[in-house]
Amino acid sequence: MDRLSVRQARQESAIGQQARLQGWVRTRRDSKGGFSFLELNDGTCLANIQVIADAALENYESEIKHLTAGCSVTVEGQVKASGGKGQATEVQAARVVVHGLADPDSYPLQKKRHSMEKLREWAHLRPRTNTFGAVMRVRNQVCRSIHDFFQEDGFLYLNTPIITASDCEGAGEMFRVTTLDPANPPRTDQGEVDYTQDFFDRPSYLTVSGQLEGEVYATALGKVYTFGPTFRAENSNTSRHLAEFWMVEPEAAFFDLEDNMDLAERFLKRIVTDVLANCEEDLDFFQQRIDNEVRDRLGKIVEGGFARTTYTDAIAALESSGESFEFPVSWGADLQAEHERYLAEKLHGRPVIVHDYPASIKPFYMRVNDDGKTVRAMDVLAPGVGEIIGGSQREERLDVLERRMAEQDLNPDDYWWYLDLRRYGTVPHAGFGLGLERMVQFVTGMANIRDVIPFPRTPGNAEF
Ligand code: 4AD
Ligand code: MG
Repeated sequence: MDRLSVRQARQESAIGQQARLQGWVRTRRDSKGGFSFLELNDGTCLANIQVIADAALENYESEIKHLTAGCSVTVEGQVKASGGKGQATEVQAARVVVHGLADPDSYPLQKKRHSMEKLREWAHLRPRTNTFGAVMRVRNQVCRSIHDFFQEDGFLYLNTPIITASDCEGAGEMFRVTTLDPANPPRTDQGEVDYTQDFFDRPSYLTVSGQLEGEVYATALGKVYTFGPTFRAENSNTSRHLAEFWMVEPEAAFFDLEDNMDLAERFLKRIVTDVLANCEEDLDFFQQRIDNEVRDRLGKIVEGGFARTTYTDAIAALESSGESFEFPVSWGADLQAEHERYLAEKLHGRPVIVHDYPASIKPFYMRVNDDGKTVRAMDVLAPGVGEIIGGSQREERLDVLERRMAEQDLNPDDYWWYLDLRRYGTVPHAGFGLGLERMVQFVTGMANIRDVIPFPRTPGNAEF
């Protein structure tokens, strides 16, 4: 007897097979004719498989007739053609083993639809719902496409550290990692905190980005990418910010900004192409139940090119848009979410890459343009989500980089190894970071970033 997933057993090719299926009951319905229908789900696909359990089964009265939503079972039986709507197959059970009951008076996931807020309180049970099953299958496909794309393109997968001493983005949003008692740290004779007694003998943090370490390896091995968790201690309670999120960061030697934009565009098209090809059933669900524009947006990614505009032109377009924005638009100010969405959704109606931002609002490592005012930065703005990718060509000139660090009050001694890359065989290079969760939001239409990661970490929330 073969062990089949629900996904496999739903294929017409499974008809006639003796199979063992294992999963969780979604519903039980008793027919007058002395048998019961069980809807069984095992997470391998959105749909359930219908199991027919006959009254002749030895535990029919004692167990099967007590099955409710959430109970776990093993079913053995034959896969048969089904006359039912929306299903090619069903299973005639010869044996039903009940592993665990789920008291219907206390099991939270009853048949009615629950709000996303409510489901967040049940982060341990929400994967059993249709929505979260679909999100996690799509998330898995996105991760797989990320690796496939870079591996096929000759990029080397690099693991960069989670614990680091340097603040890549310079935004001061790092979580401290320490073994010292914060209330009573050891002090030197001068009264300063004595880090020689700390685990890492210096102030250490959770990484905000693997980029700087990625540059080290790109300037030796050519093309690399990191893919791991990153952390931001920013106190923003929005639908697109997490304190812990996953970032993919390619970095390539001998790439300029044009190469970087081309790479980002090819990369996003590849992910969307794969999701469209492999997640059809889940996408239909998102289209019908979550966001009825999701397929349209995905289609536009695959078909057309992305729009590209300089920051300066984008500001001019926002100024002459006639829109009343909450945040003022002026050259030198960072784009706010509302501005990003206007550009991507209303002005261009497709993803837009904004490049060459003012130096004053960007980190120290971005390459300065000849005008001295702007840097070779690029952000990809996606309809529905806003900024999905941030990246740049990096400053490869030692003197310019040192000047930028001084302007931003960074201590060159902390970055001696990073500066060495410019001292010895420096090359033009570029890279970017894609926020995995924002990408999953984009392809599913899920409104809140807390609902596209298994266990969201946001201010005040780390229970599970
Ligand atoms: O724009 P960011 O901050 O860029 C960097 O960290 C660069 N070092 C990347 C690089 O060039 N290698 O972040 C990159 C992306 C954003 O565009 C966004 O998609 C995502 O990471 N991101 C977040 N996602 C969820 N929650 C947050 N708090 C995020 N902050 C950034
Ligand atoms: Mg950014």
